[in-house]
Amino acid sequence: MALKLREQTFVLEGGHRLSGTVEVGGSKNATLGAMAAALLVPDDCILENVPHIQDVDQMALVLRSLGCIVEWADDHTLRLNAREITSSCPDKELVGTLRGSFLVMGALLGRLGEAACPPPGGDVIGQRPIDVHLAGFRALGAETGVVDDMFHARAAELHGSVFFADYPSVLGTQNTMMAAAMSQGTTTIVNAACEPEVQGLARMLTGMGARISGAGTHTVTVEGVQKLNGAAYRIIPDRLEAGTYAIAAAITGGEVEVRGVDPAHMQAVLAKLRQVGLRVDTEGDRMHVSAGGELRAMTVQALPYPGFPTDLQAPIAVLLTQANGVSYLHERVFDNRLGYIGELRKMGAEVVTTGTTVAIITGPTPLSGAALRALDVRAGAAFILAGLAARGRTEVTDIYHVDRGYERIDEKLRSLGAVIERV
Ligand code: EPU
Repeated sequence: MALKLREQTFVLEGGHRLSGTVEVGGSKNATLGAMAAALLVPDDCILENVPHIQDVDQMALVLRSLGCIVEWADDHTLRLNAREITSSCPDKELVGTLRGSFLVMGALLGRLGEAACPPPGGDVIGQRPIDVHLAGFRALGAETGVVDDMFHARAAELHGSVFFADYPSVLGTQNTMMAAAMSQGTTTIVNAACEPEVQGLARMLTGMGARISGAGTHTVTVEGVQKLNGAAYRIIPDRLEAGTYAIAAAITGGEVEVRGVDPAHMQAVLAKLRQVGLRVDTEGDRMHVSAGGELRAMTVQALPYPGFPTDLQAPIAVLLTQANGVSYLHERVFDNRLGYIGELRKMGAEVVTTGTTVAIITGPTPLSGAALRALDVRAGAAFILAGLAARGRTEVTDIYHVDRGYERIDEKLRSLGAVIERV
């Protein structure tokens, strides 16, 4: 199956204006946290609005390697039950396939008082240390170490304390919150990440009986409780999928209504789409994007939330190739997330990079179809966007990366009028 997926390619014919309505699913990254949280309790946890994507399937395998039952109750609902945890260490190969797998560490430490985990995989977008995660566990009184290339954490009892995170790491904050949920006393995470996915996990944990305040700010407080229970939780909308379809509308001069979004999570994206020259209106869970006039060059800095999301940095770069003037793009979350630019140049994009974090894009430049290899989930999505705007035929290979994070992206784009085939 994996091999078959790896061999698949998207073939696009560019130049078709997109119009219509598209529905986004639940957030990939919020789902991975919620799935890990199910390890904290011996009861059923029901997750609704779960996207049917490769990373969720991989995370399910990781959890099953620990003895957790994970099954689809329907198309977008997962039932998880961790009554019997059979190991405190997930399967090494599986962990290597996705970064989010490292979240099992905080949940196992909270539940069992010990956890081990191989180094997690994930996209190659720069250094991705896990010092913040381990420091969070140590702040709770756990001993941590590395033995045979395997991270370990153990504590006879976890005790809350004030934990200063060197960096507001998303997974680091989530891991610390899970480990702290059943500790003795109160944990205060200072310089916590405040991404919506962190807020989502806090809501799920609260539904399980945890006492958490401040999620969504840089100071999160977790008052340890003696027991947690199972819960049903609806995954928040995927703000990154929503942003991708908005850019697809923009880059084809189209008009698209994106449904199922939470506009409150998209302030930075909405601001930058308006600044570049689009009309963007929101009402309830709908975002209406229409292109019309000229696109204007602008500066974009990818930052931790509520800044512009690093996960939409590559997609917006593609849009900026079509904007009038010189745009300046600064990636300030990861130190090597511009690897896709060489591929974009093949299509005629005029982009200069200085170092590994700054790109200067001159537009508008007509793009022409090319053969491109998806390097990671977001770069893959960006190449699809480029293919929608390009003259002629674009081939995007290694699309298993895209399938890791986007459910049926080809079908959804086709429903808007795109010419894209999976071959
Ligand atoms: N960092 C540290 N120490 C740590 C952890 C991170 O210095 O212990 C640094 C990293 O080097 C990086 C920055 O912090 O420069 C951001 O990393 P963070 O830990 O916040 O990222 P993450 O938690 O590993 C999650 C998402 C990413 C998303 C980032 C930033 C999941 C599974 N992954 O990663 O999503 O880009 O937050 O928002 O939730 C994606 O979906 O395509 C994706 C890569």
